[in-house]
Amino acid sequence: MNDNVVWHEHAVGHQERLTLKQQRPAVLWFTGLSGSGKSTIANAVERLLFEEGKHSYLLDGDNIRHGLNKDLGFSDEDRVENIRRIGEVAKLFVDAGNFVLTAFISPFNEDRKQVRELLEEGQFIEVFIDTPLELCEERDPKGLYKKARAGQIKNFTGIDSLYEAPMAPDIHVKTANKTVMQCAELIVSHLNEKGYIL
Ligand code: PPS
Repeated sequence: MNDNVVWHEHAVGHQERLTLKQQRPAVLWFTGLSGSGKSTIANAVERLLFEEGKHSYLLDGDNIRHGLNKDLGFSDEDRVENIRRIGEVAKLFVDAGNFVLTAFISPFNEDRKQVRELLEEGQFIEVFIDTPLELCEERDPKGLYKKARAGQIKNFTGIDSLYEAPMAPDIHVKTANKTVMQCAELIVSHLNEKGYIL
């Protein structure tokens, strides 16, 4: 960074924003394979939070790659940069007093750890959307696994690109025998139990 760039304090502080919004914001960091249900469940959680009057914003992998991160592909290096940028954006949203839901594969443990470290204690909630590869591939909502198996997509997560499952996620959602709403309620219960929803 250029030495001539100086940090400015804001006239309105983080705590003041929280008092106005009446919430204790955090990042709900969804991670899981393509087709595991990250976006679907994150959307359901956001709807539940919205209905409780909570301020939130959902950052979704596919959508962010249409704009902010449209210069990035799916090499390991680009995925690392993708997650780094999202971590920074999520931090800004939390500073603004909002819950942030992020739905990115975020395949590497180290990158998720870096985002956790970027935030204050308790502001990073890792949500593992645990759907077995076989089930994701069977669902194949976008037909991407089929293309990856046919060699038409390279570096596809779970096929020829690594996915490191979280070892100790804050919330572990095993989706196989649950409905979307059951998964979403499990996550919101955690927020209630841990005092995030005031
Ligand atoms: S990552 O690994 O966190 O940087 O990926 P992310 O930004 O979440 O983007 C994942 C979505 O991009 C589509 N897609 C691919 N996924 C994985 N591997 C490859 N090679 C790939 N190419 C395109 C896919 O639709 C992912 O969306 P989800 O919602 O995860 O299925």
